[in-house]
Amino acid sequence: MQLRTKHLLGIRDLIPEDIQLILDTARQFKEVLQRPIKKVPSLRDITVVNLFYENSTRTRISFELAEKRLSADTINFSASGSSVSKGETLLDTVNNILSMKVDMVVMRHSATGAPHFLAQHIPAAIINAGDGINEHPTQALLDALSIIEKLGQLKGKKIAIIGDIMHSRVALSNIYLLSKMGAEITLAGPPTLIPRHIQEAFGVNVTYNIKEALEWCDVANVLRIQLERQNQVLFSSLREYNQTYGVKKSLLDNLTKQILIMHPGPINRGVELDSDVADSGHSIILDQVENGVAVRMAVLYLLSGRREANA
Ligand code: CP
Repeated sequence: MQLRTKHLLGIRDLIPEDIQLILDTARQFKEVLQRPIKKVPSLRDITVVNLFYENSTRTRISFELAEKRLSADTINFSASGSSVSKGETLLDTVNNILSMKVDMVVMRHSATGAPHFLAQHIPAAIINAGDGINEHPTQALLDALSIIEKLGQLKGKKIAIIGDIMHSRVALSNIYLLSKMGAEITLAGPPTLIPRHIQEAFGVNVTYNIKEALEWCDVANVLRIQLERQNQVLFSSLREYNQTYGVKKSLLDNLTKQILIMHPGPINRGVELDSDVADSGHSIILDQVENGVAVRMAVLYLLSGRREANA
């Protein structure tokens, strides 16, 4: 089987069979990562540039590690410290890098649609590592793998996505993926951070009551308040946000069932998620990070055109 797409720009473009193929391939690579020698030759002689125009810890390290585990050659580019500060355009920057014989581009950018723009202008395969408030497809894929590992499947599972839905690319990619794979979704948070009409547009449930969302769900994926993307006051204070919308141990203690707690990171401890929940037995946050490497190996491999290589 092959992906039906040349790039990974968003989960929106994938069909369920593509998602399943990526997850199945990621599971194979996860086995590779348990071996004493964690490296395979699948992407030998392929050169990948990690083009980060926006800060990142997990995604950037995870892609770089995935590329190294696949034996690819990697180049890391940060906008800060580059000729972007001298006025060089995105397209000029990328064309200059590609002229050095680069095959694949992993790109994070604060502008929605930046990787889509590049895909129309350059021949290399492009993987979106997060574009503005649009999509973060590999995050949704690693979230899916983490849920399946714990619950067996996505179909019929109840997933609450809690927090700043309005500014979250993780939320949108998760909504696309979970809907396509047959999960039920509830979005929860303050009314000012949940887009109007999202319920009708995506067929999801919406609640402004965190207790209700936690009582309903099998999994709570808690999202960061993205203050850097908010240009107006959308809630009174971080303290009040925590009191009303934060996920707290007292809320979990009152549930009649065990639920999984997820967070894409970075966590604002004591705001959307309290430390005694983030570090509890409910949390699979570090499993998500671990699964990120295998998922990104799968995506790089499937988009590389090196399908015959030994994984
Ligand atoms: N989850 C995530 O995208 O984290 P980073 O911003 O650290 O890459």
